[in-house]
Amino acid sequence: MASPLKSLVHDDSRYQTSFQLFLQRSSEHQCVRDFIHNKLADILASIGDGKSHLNVIGVGSGAGEIDLEMLSELHKRHPDVTVDNEVVEPSSQQIHNYKALVAKTAELQSIPFSWHIMHSEDYEKQVKAKGDIKKFDFIHMIQMIYYVDDLQETIKFFQSLLKKNGRLMIVVESANSGWDILWKTYKKELCVGSIQEYRSSGEVVACLKSLGLKYEEHLIPQSFDITDCFDPSSEPGARLASFMTGTDRFHESFSPEIRAGMLDLLRNKCSTEKDGRVFFNGNMSCILIHA
Ligand SMILES: C[S@@+](CC[C@H](N)C(=O)[O-])C[C@H]1O[C@@H](n2cnc3c(N)ncnc32)[C@H](O)[C@@H]1O
Repeated sequence: MASPLKSLVHDDSRYQTSFQLFLQRSSEHQCVRDFIHNKLADILASIGDGKSHLNVIGVGSGAGEIDLEMLSELHKRHPDVTVDNEVVEPSSQQIHNYKALVAKTAELQSIPFSWHIMHSEDYEKQVKAKGDIKKFDFIHMIQMIYYVDDLQETIKFFQSLLKKNGRLMIVVESANSGWDILWKTYKKELCVGSIQEYRSSGEVVACLKSLGLKYEEHLIPQSFDITDCFDPSSEPGARLASFMTGTDRFHESFSPEIRAGMLDLLRNKCSTEKDGRVFFNGNMSCILIHA
């Protein structure tokens, strides 16, 4: 069983609300969408080449907005190929939102969806216990690798599920991005909740090298306005800072000294300033691991 702390965090409506606020404030989903329709489109096309059926699985899919974007790109590239889609997501609320999104997307009605309301660790145990191992053409993990118990085990297991010519895609914050600098500088204060060990693309790539797996890495550049975080009376600013530091309430979670240090780091080491606004470096990496 994954730790009870994890279930608390991801079914917690406060976490989901601050994640939604973050998505509204940042261009993260738009940048990932642009990446899907530009660079990833050809890769998805090549995964499907010569096949009449594709098995796809999303791990930590949230409400599925990005999953559906990829399925629609796959369908565009291979209109005659049938697709099965599976989802591993521990938050029942997010699965509910995902199902609602599928229901109103006409072009997806022919795709069967299987839902696994659980952590990836529990999915792994379930698959191993069943013995009958289904293989996949495309497995994706978008902005979720921070939450798994064991990075190496998770990559090893999901990579082993790939069919010939399949790809395991991991989207993660980039090495040296603002996230990487903030979370590594304040590791002691931040890695105490659902994230016990912060990972950026640097840790994922090091793990792939140690496993001897073939991969390629693409940058997904992104930045977003965090100016409100520096206004102590701004409620949206406090909620954004809470999401960025993985806490419930930024102002109450740290001592005034730590908070001041974090804000200084955010402004001076993690961001650039333009026209009086502070833009956080939220760069992401897309790592595609071969079968
Ligand atoms: C930051 S959200 C990303 C959601 C979505 N992929 C996106 O990019 O919009 C992280 C998601 O991972 C899920 N999650 C957390 N721990 C997980 C685990 N161990 N296995 C699978 N999913 C997990 C959370 O419930 C949450 O929906």
